[in-house]
Amino acid sequence: MRVTTRQIAQMKRRSERIVMVTAYDALSAGAAERAGIPMVLVGDSLGQVVLGYDSTVPVSMDGMVAHTAAVTRCAPSPLIVADLPFLSYQVSEELALSNAARLLQEGGAQAVKLEGGVPVAPTVKRLTDSGVAVMGHVGFTPQSVHQLGGYRVQGRGENAAARLLEDALALQEAGAFAVVLELMPSEVAATVTERLSVPTIGIGAGPDCDGQVQVFHDLLGLLPDFRPKHAGRYGDLAGVIDEALSRYADDVRGNRFPTDAESISISTDQK
Ligand code: KIV
Repeated sequence: MRVTTRQIAQMKRRSERIVMVTAYDALSAGAAERAGIPMVLVGDSLGQVVLGYDSTVPVSMDGMVAHTAAVTRCAPSPLIVADLPFLSYQVSEELALSNAARLLQEGGAQAVKLEGGVPVAPTVKRLTDSGVAVMGHVGFTPQSVHQLGGYRVQGRGENAAARLLEDALALQEAGAFAVVLELMPSEVAATVTERLSVPTIGIGAGPDCDGQVQVFHDLLGLLPDFRPKHAGRYGDLAGVIDEALSRYADDVRGNRFPTDAESISISTDQK
């Protein structure tokens, strides 16, 4: 049975910390499933960590649908939240609704996430009124990186912190079942978490959120040249992969792979 938004809400009420990780494909979804992670985000961060762009801006609806379908196929237990990509929900509420439908109906996600506060609250309301589960996302909103002038902490200073709280409250009021708090001072995230009855999921927002989300590739050290400050490091897999591939290349060049024994075991396994 899949985890539900109701169960995620209950976790906040029980003060149970909520774990979330991104996944984009069979490998990452299978790993999240095996680790028993209750909520998985098919993030548009795939633009950077999977597709090699320098932001999430170029990510398309078709791309999100394909990656979401891969994740829902390979992770049958967690609640799957899929990102609505840049400009797929700002043009009109109708477009937001039909794009959310694609992520739920073609991709198999249980919820969608979109970025922004007060200005997108009417769209969140339209979606939730139509039966779509929505996760909000405030603070640093990566799709607006060019407008925000880079990857910068948000909510610094009294006015900015108050605006951030107002944004989060507007999303809750519009029916969001949870809100991501990205790149903001810990005290601001703590206040928002205290004021909201729905769970907050932090990334670069300190320890006092109801849960934490991390990008799969950051967590596992899969990209050696990219390491955001807020990324937890629970592995250094780039090193392991590089070493294995170099050994393979050396063995092929040195005529040490395949050996007779390996050729035989492969052809036997395939029978
Ligand atoms: O796309 C993503 O991975 C995200 C997280 C950073 C929250 O939105």
